[in-house]
Amino acid sequence: MLTPRFVSFSFFILFSGVTGFAQQHTPYNYTIQKEITCSKGAVASAHPLASKAGVDILKKGGNAVDAAIATQLALAVVYPGAGNIGGGGFLIAHLKNGRNIALDYREKAPKAASRDMYLDSAGNPNLDKSQYGHLAAGVPGTVAGLFASMPYAKLPFADLVAPAIELAEKGFVITKSQAASFNSAKTDFLKYNTGSPAFVKDSPWKEGDTLFQKDLANTLKRIRDLGQKGFYEGETARLIVEEMKRSNGIISLEDLKEYRAVERKVIDFDYKGYRIITMPLPSSGGIILEQMMKMIEKRNIGAMKFQSPASVQLITEIERRAYADRANFLGDPDFVKVPVKTMVSEVYLRERMHDFVPGKAGSSDSTKAGLIDESKETTHLSVTDSEGNAVSVTTTLNGGYGSKTVVSGAGFLLNNEMDDFSVKPGVPNMYGAVGNEKNAIAPGKRMLSSMTPTIVLKNNAPYLVVGTPGGTTIPTSVFQTLVNVLEFNMSPSDAVNKPKFHHQWLPDQVYLEKGFSETTKNALIKMGYKVTEIPQIGRVELIRIGLKPSKKMEKIFSAVADHRGDDAAEGY
Ligand code: GLY
Repeated sequence: MLTPRFVSFSFFILFSGVTGFAQQHTPYNYTIQKEITCSKGAVASAHPLASKAGVDILKKGGNAVDAAIATQLALAVVYPGAGNIGGGGFLIAHLKNGRNIALDYREKAPKAASRDMYLDSAGNPNLDKSQYGHLAAGVPGTVAGLFASMPYAKLPFADLVAPAIELAEKGFVITKSQAASFNSAKTDFLKYNTGSPAFVKDSPWKEGDTLFQKDLANTLKRIRDLGQKGFYEGETARLIVEEMKRSNGIISLEDLKEYRAVERKVIDFDYKGYRIITMPLPSSGGIILEQMMKMIEKRNIGAMKFQSPASVQLITEIERRAYADRANFLGDPDFVKVPVKTMVSEVYLRERMHDFVPGKAGSSDSTKAGLIDESKETTHLSVTDSEGNAVSVTTTLNGGYGSKTVVSGAGFLLNNEMDDFSVKPGVPNMYGAVGNEKNAIAPGKRMLSSMTPTIVLKNNAPYLVVGTPGGTTIPTSVFQTLVNVLEFNMSPSDAVNKPKFHHQWLPDQVYLEKGFSETTKNALIKMGYKVTEIPQIGRVELIRIGLKPSKKMEKIFSAVADHRGDDAAEGY
């Protein structure tokens, strides 16, 4: 086995009162490891204790699906800003038998939702209501998604939820960035809750404080003991509906009871001999990733070099066109007709690029543009095992801490995913993305997403497992990470950590991440682009799978957790 490479810093708390964690890596004393090279299994996620929970499950004999379930549940405890049981997500898996699966556990609009529910009597949108508090929440899908994943897992659910229960009940120490995040969200927590969420205390949080979540532990125990019904029926459902009644929420017992995760047909396309497996609607991510990869395929971007003015301009113009299509054509396929086949056809994409002029900025229709808000809290995990399974999961509450409303007595945050609908045609959502009737609110409909969990196959075996949070920047970050590896031959670490840039049609701006080349920035301005610098784009978790040149052709996993957060890669 290869030796893990530690790029880490350490917390100072030295106490191990919890079983199931090695002495040197406990909930009270852990390190953040950014990269690992190993051969049996790997997990990269937004938090070291969640990655560790996943790897412990692999060591116990679980496969990548088991580990993905355990990691998601642990994230719901240790990364409450986005890890969740009150939100939703998507899972893409390549199974060792060659099958590819896509699970959709996206939230749904409650039955009492209606098209204009966030408009006032004059027809003006009230985005406060679609983004904060009880009315912003869609019917959660995550727990249904975990149980829809179970047929592909090996271990009992009780084993997979055990680390999460322990972390919630016995507590864990928080990182510096988590402490800062709780402190800045305190006003919102106080405003949108009548109870006392575990995330609020009188004095400011600091690195090394311990967070206990007893109510959440009890909810997780009900799910352990009763399965999906432990969330969608009985005590937890009652607590959710009671919480709804404390404000203007509309999720009902019937909404919860009827929620189902859906298995969908993966998007599966060829890129220069690689097979790319990604998420279909109701995520826009897979479709626009396919569009972008196809628009770039014949343009020899590799020869243009990484972040040269030519390669950045090409990618920018490709992103502009893909995001314009996102706004105009995409919505929940169970409700609206989407011309997916045409959108990814060669003829259509060639036509899309016919007005591309190298060296000259294109232009977007200037109708209603919004601003990019970088506090997008979704989270991604990538998992591989030694059996040949690979799992890529992106899950979300939408904004940081979702609606900011915790279900009193149940200890978990509700999403604010209703804002991912187009509350009014042309009005930008919290990501500045616009939409039209296709993504209008309707009872039981799933809101359009950008989440893009993706697996790249080489010779029909997993080669890259990738994904990221970042709202509308998600497809961009996945696209640029793939181009970095497949076209610029970058190491996994560089592919993840080099600065990114983003264009989403409206607003007609190129967003450049901190650290982006000044020379290329100036060249873009000369071409006629409006550029805006932003602190961060994405938090990518990438695993590259190589083969060790040995007789057994043993696998080598290179797992990289993005340097932009507390993200950590674990493996063995
Ligand atoms: N809430 C972010 C997304 O689904 O794209």
